[in-house]
Amino acid sequence: MTSSSSTPLKGSVSIALGDYALVRSQSLALTDHLSDAEATVQSMEDASPAKWHLAHTTWFFETFVLEPNVSDYTLFDDKYCYLFNSYYDAVGERHPRPRRGMLARPTLDEVRDYRAHVDEAMETLLASTLSPELATLIELGLHHEQQHQELLLTDILHLFAQNPLRPAFAPAVPLEMTNKGTGDAGWVSFDGGRLPLGASGDGFRFDCEGPCHEVLVQPFELATRAVTNREWITFMEAGGYRDPQYWLSDGLAIATEREWHAPLYWYQQDDIWWSLTLRGPQPVHLDAPVAHVSFYEADAFATWAGMRLPSEAEWEHAAGDVEIEGNFASSNMLRPRPQDASAGDLAGLYGDVWEWTGSPFTSYPGFKPASGAVGEYNGKFMSGQMVLRGGSCATPGGHMRATYRNFFHPDKRWQFSGLRLARDAA
Ligand SMILES: [Fe+2]
Repeated sequence: MTSSSSTPLKGSVSIALGDYALVRSQSLALTDHLSDAEATVQSMEDASPAKWHLAHTTWFFETFVLEPNVSDYTLFDDKYCYLFNSYYDAVGERHPRPRRGMLARPTLDEVRDYRAHVDEAMETLLASTLSPELATLIELGLHHEQQHQELLLTDILHLFAQNPLRPAFAPAVPLEMTNKGTGDAGWVSFDGGRLPLGASGDGFRFDCEGPCHEVLVQPFELATRAVTNREWITFMEAGGYRDPQYWLSDGLAIATEREWHAPLYWYQQDDIWWSLTLRGPQPVHLDAPVAHVSFYEADAFATWAGMRLPSEAEWEHAAGDVEIEGNFASSNMLRPRPQDASAGDLAGLYGDVWEWTGSPFTSYPGFKPASGAVGEYNGKFMSGQMVLRGGSCATPGGHMRATYRNFFHPDKRWQFSGLRLARDAA
């Protein structure tokens, strides 16, 4: 396979090898307005510095593509493997994750030089004839880089949220409204049955999305839009955060210990709820989907509402032929917007917020990790995490699929994570 023609990164169009330069430039562009200090600091163990994201995605191509396949490739710096290996045990020792923010050197500019060095070698390689295996690996590297583009955004939001000056990543602009507002959510019914789950056919997918297999799904209904901030405030004002009857035991313990009483980044000022966003402090838009809630909170809300979270099989079946379009990072809104459910079908299934499901992130029957170090990509995380579906306003356009499985621990809140309610059919 050789590099194909460049394809726009939007809608349902997947990335191709010809998009290498575009994906790489999109990562760099995210740091255009960051200082070296802003790109260096780490706000918590879960988050990484922007500089680290730029270097780690570069290390991926250097380590898995260039070093084993380009005989005259010269490492940019042989110490970078230790600094920028994330979690690949097969590759060797690495810098401890909680100390990524201590890397004042290399500087942001030196990391940019590292990227240029690797890009030059990659572009030479991409101009040659590639084996199918190598082409697949490069494609994985591009999708990996897109995942880090989203993490870079969510991590910089978390970093800026620690600063009493409340800095903005991007200028404040009015939130683009849908035409008719949200109104009450309706329901879309599905018959259920023995249904396929997982990716089949051609096209890129992460290993955890397959194999496609059959699952038994009972008839169910899915809400026409995600839960809104207005509905979340009703839950808060009803004492939802403190009433044990709605909570999983682990969730209540964590919510109590960490004093959760509202979504992450929310604060109250003059009786109005505000949120720290990538576009600075903004009044909470009541009709926009709630974001930055953990699985535990989402589950408690669903129980309070007399509903439940969908399973990932239900979500994927409902997604069916729904066009993969929505408020992704390419829209540059950088926050969820109100979803117009007036047409009665599923609005905002893609983009805006990742939707928590009630399904644990486990392997599908017949799952086999890839051979070699990249086999560590997903499989070793299949414990204690829950699946989210659909992508968010920070997910790069063109990165999403109906079968895409994101996963986080149930107490994590710094992603753009929200929920859509489900219920058993009457
Ligand atoms: Fe990574």
